[in-house]
Amino acid sequence: MTTATVHRLIRAQQAVEGDGFVVRRPFPTPTLSHLDPFLLFDHMGPVEFEPGKGVGTPWHPHRGFETVTYLLDGDMEHRDSMGNHGSLRSGDTQWMTAASGVLHKEGPSAAAQATGGRVHGLQLWVNLPAAMKMDAPAYQDLRAEANARREQDGAVVRVIAGRLFDLDGPGATRTPITYAHATIDQGAEVHTALPEGHVRLLYPMTGAVRVGGTQVDEGILAVLDGDELTVEGVAATSEVILLTGAPIGEPVARYGPFVMNTEQELRDAFRDFDRGAFGVPQDCAGRARNRRQRAPWGPLSTRCKGASGTGASRRARIVGGQSSLPPPLPPLPLSSDVAGAEASVLEVLSSSLSSSLSSLSSMLLEVASSSSLPWSSTLFSVASSLP
Ligand code: CO
Repeated sequence: MTTATVHRLIRAQQAVEGDGFVVRRPFPTPTLSHLDPFLLFDHMGPVEFEPGKGVGTPWHPHRGFETVTYLLDGDMEHRDSMGNHGSLRSGDTQWMTAASGVLHKEGPSAAAQATGGRVHGLQLWVNLPAAMKMDAPAYQDLRAEANARREQDGAVVRVIAGRLFDLDGPGATRTPITYAHATIDQGAEVHTALPEGHVRLLYPMTGAVRVGGTQVDEGILAVLDGDELTVEGVAATSEVILLTGAPIGEPVARYGPFVMNTEQELRDAFRDFDRGAFGVPQDCAGRARNRRQRAPWGPLSTRCKGASGTGASRRARIVGGQSSLPPPLPPLPLSSDVAGAEASVLEVLSSSLSSSLSSLSSMLLEVASSSSLPWSSTLFSVASSLP
């Protein structure tokens, strides 16, 4: 048993997510890809938005890991291709095990968009070992009231997953993870044992605390050594996240929303996504199915229109019935900037869509020119209107 001290301090960098949400991100950054088993740590807000001005993420895929969203403040809505549709309010956690692949989108609820609102939360990506990356996707909604909670002198601790503060959180984890949120007043202290062999992270979302003689300010991620932790409040009130996880110790190959073990598995993820294996956006699933049924004869984009106007109609495109593999991927970026990589993913997807359209176009031209049917001229004009 050793007293926990600060081993390393990591200042969060600014990054832009989804449709323009600015986050504070200790990692991944160009100099720190991940802290095994954690792949991404995004501090969202706190931000107040005007009516109609809230931003979220459009439909996008994930494979190979879990996304865990904890909301300190806010009212968010999410949907995924498993058919889950729910809300996330202050204190709630959404634990999505993407595993073999899901599509999802998230953003302020319709009610919050109407009135304006506040968003303050944390999104983590938790890696899965190779043996679990292709498991069926799963999903947990963990309500604030389900968290293990204790009030003590000048502090409140809430445990979401694993065992901390002698409390067991409700979250079911695939690998050993502990996750807690403590609110600590100035001068108050909280104590907990930390699991052995885990990477141990502490992050003040607001305020400032002291650990083993080192002050950790808001927006700074502390990597801890030692297994007996005492955290003392320095600011009037501090909201502190405590997170630990057992390292997986496998190679990490990541590209935007996919995190696998090898580059070939990343290519497979693109191919599967392109084939529609991740399902369809659930707020337009009926429409997508209808279009596919009506035109079973060739490459076709099924596009979700009007999905809450978050850009889904522009970006969430699934190519159905594609007969050939997508074009080779461009070289993987050296930087692990997720926002940038996500943009590259969208670029690849849209270029693969346009190559599908051009093969459709040449097929139509071929049919039109080899037949003397009365509608050949219509085929010609349809084919020439495609890119
Ligand atoms: Co996501």
